[in-house]
Amino acid sequence: MREFPGLAVREIQTYYGTSHILQGVSIDVAPGRIVTVLGRNGAGKTTLIRSIMGTTAPRAGSIRYGDAQLDGLAPYEIARRGVALVPQGRRIFPSLTVREHLDLGRRTSKRAPQANGWTLERVFETFPVLAERQKQLGITLSGGEQQMLACARALLANPTLLLMDEPSEGLAPQKVHELGVMMEELKRSGLAVLLVEQKLSFAMKYADHAYVLAKGQIAYDGSPAALANDRALLEQLLGVAPS
Ligand SMILES: Nc1ncnc2c1ncn2[C@@H]1O[C@H](COP(=O)(O)OP(=O)(O)OP(=O)(O)O)[C@@H](O)[C@H]1O
Ligand SMILES: [Mg+2]
Repeated sequence: MREFPGLAVREIQTYYGTSHILQGVSIDVAPGRIVTVLGRNGAGKTTLIRSIMGTTAPRAGSIRYGDAQLDGLAPYEIARRGVALVPQGRRIFPSLTVREHLDLGRRTSKRAPQANGWTLERVFETFPVLAERQKQLGITLSGGEQQMLACARALLANPTLLLMDEPSEGLAPQKVHELGVMMEELKRSGLAVLLVEQKLSFAMKYADHAYVLAKGQIAYDGSPAALANDRALLEQLLGVAPS
């Protein structure tokens, strides 16, 4: 069987203690694609990300990335294989400046820079606001800017697969567009992105493929457009009317 060149999650079963959260979840993220996983609060989206990163390893099933088997590896080993995380809630440290966050991202990188790698210069070109505010504390940035900082910190590890856990969370709807430039740049850069979201319209704008996770199982696997146009399905799976 030929290896799938991207991320292949197959039939994973993930638990917290005796709570069986992910019940046979399978997803693919091909290189250079933005794939979204939507789902209500508590559907298991972060648990899926934790399963891929190895912080809550699945008890069964498999996770492969290219020719590497990720399940069973420690999180730092998974990171070395090119997977980086932009965590839910951004995790900006109150006592560190913008620049210090970025230096932290560079220092934790154990990967050799790629030909098309992310350097501090490239980060500042892509997110000029981070260059302007280098000396400020990270927490003084707006929500959208903090999300850019969290993303830039992850990019400086030069990943080939970026896991983003609800980047639009906590942003006022009219502020979500601040993240648009970031998403466009990620798309252009050829990185594979797994975009976990609750905000349908944001995810739909950038995703090439969509899954919906409901109660720990994949309830939709198809095109973002077909999902966005299916009012009944949206209400059933996400409890939202399309915007
Ligand atoms: N550390 C934990 N221990 C026990 N149960 C947990 C733990 N973390 C999450 N859960 C439970 O697992 C289920 C899935 O949670 P998860 O955080 O993956 O959801 P989510 O889809 O990311 O939700 P949200 O959109 O609110 O971030 C929920 O029922 C949650 O209460
Ligand atoms: Mg979550």
